[in-house]
Amino acid sequence: MIDVLGFAGSLRSGSLNRKLLESAQRCAAEGLRIERFPIDDIPLYDADRDTEERRPRPVREFKRAIDEADALLVATPEYNQGLPGVTKNAIDWASRPGRDSVLRGKPAGIMGATMGPWGTARSQEQLKLALSAPLARVMPHPGLYVRRAHEKFDEDGRLVDDETRRRLTGYLEKLGEWVREVGDVKAGRRG
Ligand SMILES: Cc1cc2nc3c(=O)[nH]c(=O)nc-3n(C[C@H](O)[C@H](O)[C@H](O)COP(=O)(O)O)c2cc1C
Repeated sequence: MIDVLGFAGSLRSGSLNRKLLESAQRCAAEGLRIERFPIDDIPLYDADRDTEERRPRPVREFKRAIDEADALLVATPEYNQGLPGVTKNAIDWASRPGRDSVLRGKPAGIMGATMGPWGTARSQEQLKLALSAPLARVMPHPGLYVRRAHEKFDEDGRLVDDETRRRLTGYLEKLGEWVREVGDVKAGRRG
């Protein structure tokens, strides 16, 4: 069983990215289990609090969850043609100590949903960089871009667009293959 930790980089209750992540939980093939971590309580990064004594509890829990997972799956919106601060902030906390963090060597998949026409393509480029800097292994397979996402979920938040569901299922299959290929991270886990 491959354990994937997923988080959505949006705090709003009706978040399309959270719905996309929840759909991924339902679509995942046998052998891939996706757990969702709510990042709502993660404060803004503050290096003064990023110490063993002062690190906020939600951050400690987030880092532990990443450490225990075999892979990461991030669903991010796009704000002003880039990566929203909420997504980046969570990654910044997880990325310390630099080059020796829980993200080092961690296989990662990325996806995003937007109401706009470009499917978070620009945001995902920046997300790739943000994850690659702390040496996560971002899957090179093209990410999953969901445009006009508000038309693709029903009132209960279920993904009702067949084409998107097919692409999501395919993406998760590739993620499983990627984790099996590069994901020997258990030995290198950091506390
Ligand atoms: C401040 C702000 C900037 C945005 N900029 C973009 C953008 O550059 N490109 C885009 O596709 N959507 C943009 N949007 C629309 C978001 O993609 C849309 O609100 C999306 O639903 C946010 O994700 P969520 O539903 O997970 O919260 C922007 C929204 C906000 C609030």
